[in-house]
Amino acid sequence: MEFRVAGHTKGLRGTIRVPGDKSVTHRALLLGAMAAGTTRLHGALRAGVIDAMNDCLAALGVEIETLDEEQTLVHGTRWLPPERPLACRNSGTTMRLLMGALAGSTVSATLTGSRRLSQRPMARVAEPLRRMGAQISGLNGSDQPPLEITGSELHGIEYEMQIASAQVKTALLLAGLSAEGRTRIREPIASRDHSERLLRHLGVSVVRSDGTLSLDPIQAPLPPFELEIPGDMSAAAFPLAAALLAPGSEITLQKVGLNPTRTGLLETLQRMEAQIETGTLTDADGEPTGDMTVAFSTLKGIDIHREQVVSMVDEIPIFAVIATQAHGETRIRGAGELRLKESDRLSGMTVELRKMGAQIEEHPDGLTIEGPSPLSGTRVSSHGDHRLAMALTVAGMLASGETVISSAEVVQESYPGFMTTLRSMGAELW
Ligand code: S3P
Repeated sequence: MEFRVAGHTKGLRGTIRVPGDKSVTHRALLLGAMAAGTTRLHGALRAGVIDAMNDCLAALGVEIETLDEEQTLVHGTRWLPPERPLACRNSGTTMRLLMGALAGSTVSATLTGSRRLSQRPMARVAEPLRRMGAQISGLNGSDQPPLEITGSELHGIEYEMQIASAQVKTALLLAGLSAEGRTRIREPIASRDHSERLLRHLGVSVVRSDGTLSLDPIQAPLPPFELEIPGDMSAAAFPLAAALLAPGSEITLQKVGLNPTRTGLLETLQRMEAQIETGTLTDADGEPTGDMTVAFSTLKGIDIHREQVVSMVDEIPIFAVIATQAHGETRIRGAGELRLKESDRLSGMTVELRKMGAQIEEHPDGLTIEGPSPLSGTRVSSHGDHRLAMALTVAGMLASGETVISSAEVVQESYPGFMTTLRSMGAELW
């Protein structure tokens, strides 16, 4: 499926809601599935990546009910040995989190993934889990899927992570729940902390002190819970960027998750002189949430490093589009992890934005972008990556002439209402 986008967009207006946070939804479904009883989620994401998690949990005997647009029930139970492999499709979070949860469970399962997912690094999870006593074997003795995991008795470890990855951290915390003794994890830079917050909400002892996280195993099954899931900052980034860059725009985004480990984009944009205001923060079951108002802004170029990249890792593709319109040079460094996502996002954005006339240089761990550059509508590809499809749609809205984005159906992976929302703000796409 192709998206076609009219260029020269101006005057976007509206008050919008974005889909539920993908990271929080994954964690809530999985912890709900491990709990003894029925968990009620409000505002969970419903999208391709979540279907992957739901299908895997269903194969483990967990019933998940979608009640209405807002509510999801997870009937947590003792997991059953699955009769089929657990298909994680293209979802890295599904595979990595399940590796941790299955390692200390009482079942054995095989995790499979798409071709791309099977090439993404899994040793970063398998290796520390094995140190905890996990039995994991990949294809031909490698750490690549299909991964066979035999639930075993685990013991807590002290682990120094080499990369800042919330997926790795969460896998270890999940394994640590059933391990003997305390699990201690040190991260080079604090990654998103949704798992820690949700585990605390469930009464689990997870403490951060001097950059080290300590988790004590649980003595009884997790309790079922009720959870309000905030809007996803990583989805909000697309309409936000469109309003920031299309002259005469002003929009409000309601109930967006503003967890400080996820707001790197907002802080960076504010340093670039963006007009973004966040309203009063409320606490949605441990996650700070608030409204944001964004108006068209004249931006200046900026340097960002690994410290900022961690808290805006999924926003770098749309940030690259923003940088093409900022005055001066924008340098992104310490972003090598982007090559390991659903596509190589550094190379994909460079290739596609160049086709549109952007001045963009690729580096092993980042990008240099010179702006402002007029963009021209042309044919571009999503590279099968939802974040690229959405970033290029926003680029197309600013370009002169029509932009055609191929393989654009992939937006369903994380933001099924993307087109409808942009149209409601005044964008012309079909
Ligand atoms: C996620 C963590 C990030 C992010 C991904 C979701 C999570 O990945 O890119 O979309 O839910 O923990 P890494 O932990 O591999 O950086």
